[in-house]
Amino acid sequence: MKITFLGHNTILIDVSGTQILVDPFISGNPLSKDKVDVNSLNPDYILLTHAHQDHILDAEQIAKRSDSKIVSNFEIATHYQNLGIESHPMNHGGNWNFDFGNVKYVNAIHTSSFPDGSYGGQPGGFVIEGEHKNIYIAGDTALTMDMKLIPLSTKLDLAILPIGDNFTMGIDDAIIASNFVQCDKVLGVHYDTFGYIEIDHEEAKRKFYNAEKDLMLLEIGESIEL
Ligand code: NI
Ligand code: MN
Repeated sequence: MKITFLGHNTILIDVSGTQILVDPFISGNPLSKDKVDVNSLNPDYILLTHAHQDHILDAEQIAKRSDSKIVSNFEIATHYQNLGIESHPMNHGGNWNFDFGNVKYVNAIHTSSFPDGSYGGQPGGFVIEGEHKNIYIAGDTALTMDMKLIPLSTKLDLAILPIGDNFTMGIDDAIIASNFVQCDKVLGVHYDTFGYIEIDHEEAKRKFYNAEKDLMLLEIGESIEL
């Protein structure tokens, strides 16, 4: 499993050649719009954690051009279905076995309106299993006790957690979240994109290090292999 960070919460996952794009927000992201060519992305699937602009902005355009299937909660999937895009609706606690592996839609504490204010269902995260590796994409969320449910069924190899604070967990809560999901290997996301979520990288890494955990902060376009 190859995981590429494309800025904010935008993650490209390659599972045996199947491309899964999570929360595409590139053309409106000042940090990634000149580094990532939206038109170069041809995902088979687009997973959306919730309906906020900074998670769905480029989804419609990419899905229509690439014939991608959108996977999200029922309300978001229906929204894209109505735009003529093939979509797979899920809801919290549900699993589906896709051709690349299993996806579970899990709880997040956040909100989920579309940019026009219409209802975007309840926000979530994803637990993805593929090539015998398991990753958790928390999406935008507070620290929540529900994270403790994840290791009851899944041994994680990587936790992708928001760390930017203000709209989501910050560093200190992300360290606790890492304990809750029983995964010491963390990829930090949802930081630096806007003024409200700028972080001190060295301080963040030091805090994780002191907690005997590994925080990865990737450059935009940088990949890791699991
Ligand atoms: Ni959000
Ligand atoms: Mn967000």
